[in-house]
Amino acid sequence: ARIRHYRWEVKYEFKSQDCFRKLVITINGRTPGPSIRAQQGDTVIVDLKNSLLTENVAIHWHGIRQIGTPWADGTEGVTQCPILPGDTFRYMFVVDRAGTYMYHAHYGMQREAGLYGSLRVALPDGEVEPFTYDHDRSIILNDWYHKSAYEQAAGLSSVPFVWVGDPQSLLIQGRGRFNCSTPGIEAGKCNATNPECSPYVLTVVPGKTYRLRIGSLTALAALSFEIEGHNMTVVEADGHYVEPFIVKNLFIYSGETYSVLITANQDPSRNYWAVSKMVSRNNSVPTGLAIFNYYPNHPKRSPPTVPPSGPFWGAIEPRVNQSLAIKSHPNYIHPVPQTSDRVIILLNTQNRINGSVKWSINNVSFSLPHTPYLISLKHDLLHTFEQTPPPDVINGYQTYDINTVAPNVNATSSNSLYRLKFNTTVDIILQNANTLNVNNSETHPWHLHGHDFWVVGYGSGKFNVSEDPKRYNLVDPIMKNTVPVHPYGWTALRFVADNPGVWAFHCHIESHFFMGMGAVFEEGIEKVTKLPSSIMGCGDTKRFIRP
Ligand code: C2O
Repeated sequence: ARIRHYRWEVKYEFKSQDCFRKLVITINGRTPGPSIRAQQGDTVIVDLKNSLLTENVAIHWHGIRQIGTPWADGTEGVTQCPILPGDTFRYMFVVDRAGTYMYHAHYGMQREAGLYGSLRVALPDGEVEPFTYDHDRSIILNDWYHKSAYEQAAGLSSVPFVWVGDPQSLLIQGRGRFNCSTPGIEAGKCNATNPECSPYVLTVVPGKTYRLRIGSLTALAALSFEIEGHNMTVVEADGHYVEPFIVKNLFIYSGETYSVLITANQDPSRNYWAVSKMVSRNNSVPTGLAIFNYYPNHPKRSPPTVPPSGPFWGAIEPRVNQSLAIKSHPNYIHPVPQTSDRVIILLNTQNRINGSVKWSINNVSFSLPHTPYLISLKHDLLHTFEQTPPPDVINGYQTYDINTVAPNVNATSSNSLYRLKFNTTVDIILQNANTLNVNNSETHPWHLHGHDFWVVGYGSGKFNVSEDPKRYNLVDPIMKNTVPVHPYGWTALRFVADNPGVWAFHCHIESHFFMGMGAVFEEGIEKVTKLPSSIMGCGDTKRFIRP
């Protein structure tokens, strides 16, 4: 195994990802940041210099389980104190498993300012994938806002509440296109011919097969991705091989990664569109476009066709069907425990607290403590967060009507967490419900840190505690780290609490997590070895570094 050593400088720069000039957070001058490439078993070291001048930072390695290094998970408030301006922080962890992963900021709403990138782990020498291809490429899909993350965060926590609204554009590998002649755009702020916003080009050689690794780190949007005229064979999801299935368009939620195989088998005399389209919310966000370029055509030559318009935003069925189609590859099944020790039903509702809009789980809207849990729990600073754990099921669950606005719209806010018994098997039921608006329920992609989980079932309507578990797939369920709960539906997950540490579990929609849509699990804290002092310095942890 090798050491992969990266030196990153994080700072604000003016950039025009979608032709509109704004401040973005770059790593070594780029957004998306540098790709991390490693091989299974390697140690990744990232020396991160925070040159944001007036802003803290923290980076999460999304999909890396951090076995034995829970302090390197990069989750501000959970596993570390934020990195102060001017400081350099060392992240060091082992990538123990091949697959397609990502990294991104995990402090406030910084991710959407452009601080993200891809992390690809190759198989060890001599091992082969259960599929073949000629070339391997990675892209990250994103949505893009022109307002700063600060302005958005302030709006979300104000009374009256100011919603972030739809993104201004969709980016493919950091490039998108905003219409500069939109009324109200300040002169000089938008330049349609800026090379920074020329479309991303994926060049292919006719007849060759490409593995395209696609990740989504959208702040809000659920996406449909397609390449005009080409089918895609899905072969990997969140680092796990799936039973291959063919799609024309791939639905992908924030926090998910997929590998698809695409063969360049169409008319080679022209280029084709690659299209990202926002679905699940009624919107008029223009599709994001990239060029699927058949060599040797000019990479900038626009395809002669109108880009595909993609599926109807509101069609839920095809999205649910894709969720149901994902099965573990038959040769790579991780046997799932047939029973569980604890069932936690997380009812997702939209609520109000003191006149502001919040999301809550079992009527508790999550807020991060000022002293990171990992440090508080390891060093018994239990006064730093609320000790009453959130409920495993909401009072009155049996009669709760998920199809109407919450009868009691008021929730409470808490920074308490779930403590899991080490090595036990836990079932989590994500139960969706109506929002504060009549006849509205949204899609939420939930991401678990420190683990992969088996996705044992999906259903529509309300989860039936005695009947639905009988229909779980306990034979060949896929393992993932991010999974959607569909509108008015439920999703059931199972995992084994065997990774000592403290792990966030939250909706990957940035504003939703900010509004309280999350939870935290502790397991095996007594097995965590000595914490590095580099993660300390905030809240009550000051006592450890200033004796
Ligand atoms: Cu990719 Cu806690 O997030």
